[in-house]
Amino acid sequence: MRIIDKRGRDINYARISVTDRCNYRCVYCMPEEGVKPRSHSEIMRFEDILWLSRILVSLGIRHIRFTGGEPLVRRGMADFLVSFREEFPELDISMTTNASLLSRFAGIIAKARLSGMNVSLDTLDTGKFTSMTRLGDISGVMSGIASAAELGIPNIKTNTVVMRGFNEHELPGIVKFSWKLGFIPRMIEFMPLCGDLWGKETFVSSGEIFELLKPAGDWSPERPGAKKTAHGPAKYYTDARTGLKVGVIEAVSNHFCSECNRLRITAAGNLRACLFSSKETPLLTAIRERDEAASREAILTGIGLKPKKWNEAADGEGHMSDIGG
Ligand code: 5AD
Ligand code: SF4
Repeated sequence: MRIIDKRGRDINYARISVTDRCNYRCVYCMPEEGVKPRSHSEIMRFEDILWLSRILVSLGIRHIRFTGGEPLVRRGMADFLVSFREEFPELDISMTTNASLLSRFAGIIAKARLSGMNVSLDTLDTGKFTSMTRLGDISGVMSGIASAAELGIPNIKTNTVVMRGFNEHELPGIVKFSWKLGFIPRMIEFMPLCGDLWGKETFVSSGEIFELLKPAGDWSPERPGAKKTAHGPAKYYTDARTGLKVGVIEAVSNHFCSECNRLRITAAGNLRACLFSSKETPLLTAIRERDEAASREAILTGIGLKPKKWNEAADGEGHMSDIGG
């Protein structure tokens, strides 16, 4: 079974946010005071997520990524990953994390045989790390990153949101750090999703990001016609000397709407077909009632709301920490 939407897009990738909470307040993601957390009764229980995932997989989803907030602040998350893997031995299962709690849960996470992991890494500088995350301490993240490298998880990527005045001069250093650990570094354009800081002063375009990356490698773009590394907004460049890659995510300047393969489920069980639209289709009641027909129908209705292009939908509402990035 596959879900092909009315514009011919094969929807095979779901991002499920397991919590809207986070132990950090990254400047690009949340306001300083944080976002009012939802109460536990409002968010999907692990059994709800498992049940929903069975339906998603039966409809044609082949990759599920767990996001947050920070997934690992949810109690029981690491054990949940293990039982999720037992339920879906063949599925691509991945997680996006800020790495702060990774070393604590590394032993359990190893058993989940994740197919990939994305780790936030915006700076290597202790002081800047604390100012970008407002609450973070880089040493915990560094040990988290080291344990990720030791876990043997394939396909680990680092995500760097590039912001002028914060980290734009650090990109070559971050690329080399990420390569040394065997990861794929990705540089992400700062998206205007939560207002406060986004603007001409802070935004760095993908073109400029590429210029800033020049000292780190002898780059050539992925050959046109070559099998693409990912179905996503990242453009990959390969260093001719080492064969290693860097991804640049043109989240703002070049949308990949025509090949978008993803849907998002918020922690509260609402389906968001497009990151840039606040239109949500509620699934929680149907999930809690274990009503398979109603759940399938709501999922397909939600997918029907996926716009042709993001700017048809953009209203910039919602926080990344709720939607799951
Ligand atoms: N712009 C770009 N990426 C963002 N993320 C969160 N907020 C933004 C934003 N405004 C992404 C980052 C982070 C992940 C959890 O979500 O990549 O690492
Ligand atoms: Fe938390 Fe990630 Fe948002 Fe930072 S970007 S506040 S780590 S959810």
